[in-house]
Amino acid sequence: MTSDGITCPDLRGKSVAVTGGARGLGLAMVEAFARNGCHVLLVDVDAAELERVQEHLSAECPQQTVSVAAVSVAEAEAVADALADFAERTGSLDVLVNNAGISANVPSLDLDVDRWRRVIDVNLTGVFVCAQAAGRIMRTQGAGVVLNISSMYGVVSAAERASYCASKAAVASLTKVLAVEWAAHGIRVNAIGPGYVETDLLSSLAEQGRLDLDVLRRRTPSGRLGSTGDIAQLALFLSSAASANITGQVVVSDGGWTADGFGVA
Ligand SMILES: NC(=O)c1ccc[n+]([C@@H]2O[C@H](COP(=O)([O-])OP(=O)(O)OC[C@H]3O[C@@H](n4cnc5c(N)ncnc54)[C@H](O)[C@@H]3O)[C@@H](O)[C@H]2O)c1
Repeated sequence: MTSDGITCPDLRGKSVAVTGGARGLGLAMVEAFARNGCHVLLVDVDAAELERVQEHLSAECPQQTVSVAAVSVAEAEAVADALADFAERTGSLDVLVNNAGISANVPSLDLDVDRWRRVIDVNLTGVFVCAQAAGRIMRTQGAGVVLNISSMYGVVSAAERASYCASKAAVASLTKVLAVEWAAHGIRVNAIGPGYVETDLLSSLAEQGRLDLDVLRRRTPSGRLGSTGDIAQLALFLSSAASANITGQVVVSDGGWTADGFGVA
């Protein structure tokens, strides 16, 4: 499934910020929101990709604002400025998707503490910093949605992914804390836990021989990997009024991977 053809009428005119929006899952969500009539802000460190995406989306969705901010999610002040500026220009900040993330696949005995800190800084502190900045704007509106992209590896673990798994499990926990704190302000906070999704990143790891996609497919009860469209569709649902009573949840989209205790490929 791609993000083409996904519709969610009540999102028209909403203002949606997506971190890590320049490629992969983030880009698929940006495109899905834009194609459903949303104004979008992409926050990413890749300035060249941001420019490319802004050009093609502005041409495709001329009625909407397509903004970009070339900043890291870990830079609290820069992120707050970018979100405030977007909210001012479009009239609101309705949805923040905390998607930017990095990984470090290294045996724990060899993982140096600086690399550990980098992953925690982007995947966890970045989520907190962006959510806090968005939450402050949404509190004044009395409404908003924060959607954190965790991982199935926030629910189950895997060898050689200490910082990644720990950061994603912490994001799941943070999601619940913020949901409970901010419910009274009309702000819903949920997380998505994707399993393996066929992105360019996964394909390039497979091409380098670092992952075997057929093994991953056999390990998955559904027999297939996730698509960016699966995640984009879920993001639209969790951002829309259709999920108005859902908050503090981690929705795992993994074809049954985490449900399968045997997991023999
Ligand atoms: N692809 C998968 O199979 C999969 C599975 C589970 C969870 N996830 C999660 O989904 C999210 C997106 O994954 P992806 O596969 O699309 O990754 P990706 O590497 O293709 O894209 C990540 C984007 O985030 C940006 N980014 C990195 N560091 C940043 C920072 N400090 N500030 C702002 N932007 C930054 C990158 O420039 C890039 O555009 C991540 O949080 C990842 O952990 C992915």
